Amino acid sequence: MSDRTVVVAGLEQCFRARGGEVHALGPIDLTIEPGELVTLAGPSGCGKTTLLRLLAGFGLPSGGSITVGGEPVRAPGVERGVVFQQPTLYPWLDVRGNVELGPRLRGSAKVERRRTAERFLELVGLQDVAGLRPYELSGGMQQRAQIARVLANDPDIVLMDEPFGALDALTRERLQNELLTIWRETGKTILFITHSVDEAVFLGSRVLVMSPRPGRIVLDEPARFSTASHEVPPEELRALPEFTELAARVRSAIQHVEPVVAG
Ligand SMILES: Nc1ncnc2c1ncn2[C@@H]1O[C@H](COP(=O)(O)OP(=O)(O)OP(=O)(O)O)[C@@H](O)[C@H]1O
Ligand SMILES: [Mg+2]
Repeated sequence: MSDRTVVVAGLEQCFRARGGEVHALGPIDLTIEPGELVTLAGPSGCGKTTLLRLLAGFGLPSGGSITVGGEPVRAPGVERGVVFQQPTLYPWLDVRGNVELGPRLRGSAKVERRRTAERFLELVGLQDVAGLRPYELSGGMQQRAQIARVLANDPDIVLMDEPFGALDALTRERLQNELLTIWRETGKTILFITHSVDEAVFLGSRVLVMSPRPGRIVLDEPARFSTASHEVPPEELRALPEFTELAARVRSAIQHVEPVVAG
């Protein structure tokens, strides 16, 4: 199944700014295999969102290339879904209407899109509030609705930019576990940006750390806690020496000003 492999090669991004050019990102070389859950951490301003936006096709890079399944990424595509830090729901539609919107715009029949919406609302635990408007939901519920809406488009690749950053600790943990269930059930490729070292290590099947600007990958390590998390309670996983060791390596990679060579 190499048809949706993401290949990033020599990727660079510069921005024109007052007083000259800002070299925001790169060079980045990165291959993401189908079904990986890649977490990405790094200091503020290092270019994480810039990388995600380029992967989403919201802009073109200054240099290098991105391909998905061998096809160059030049614009947003339905095979790449984006979950933003702040929920972006349409206030005039109820929760179900928001989740159904993508399938509706793509011409899916009413019965079918209703079924799709029900499935994803159930997956994120919002089936009982499907008739409410976004403003009637808590922040965590809005974020779950956004995730359901993105998944209803059945993207192969889900790009998530600090999706749980604004949530309280308990809601965040609940959503982390829900995300892992979704990942296991759907086998989607996920790129998940986070500021939390714990979240990066707990969720990732692979953990990346970027250096300060211009962002480059300075740590790239496999992790296995996400695959074990439905068998072993999260608090036991977090107490494992392997967990704390990886977390320490990730933390020191983020704090190092000079790039740390992985391995
Ligand atoms: N459209 C733009 N025009 C000019 N500069 C930009 C633009 N977008 C991003 N930058 C700059 O590029 C750098 C990287 O920004 P980016 O948003 O990717 O960082 P980040 O790693 O996501 O940070 P944070 O963790 O705070 O979200 C920053 O210095 C930012 O000011
Ligand atoms: Mg960002």
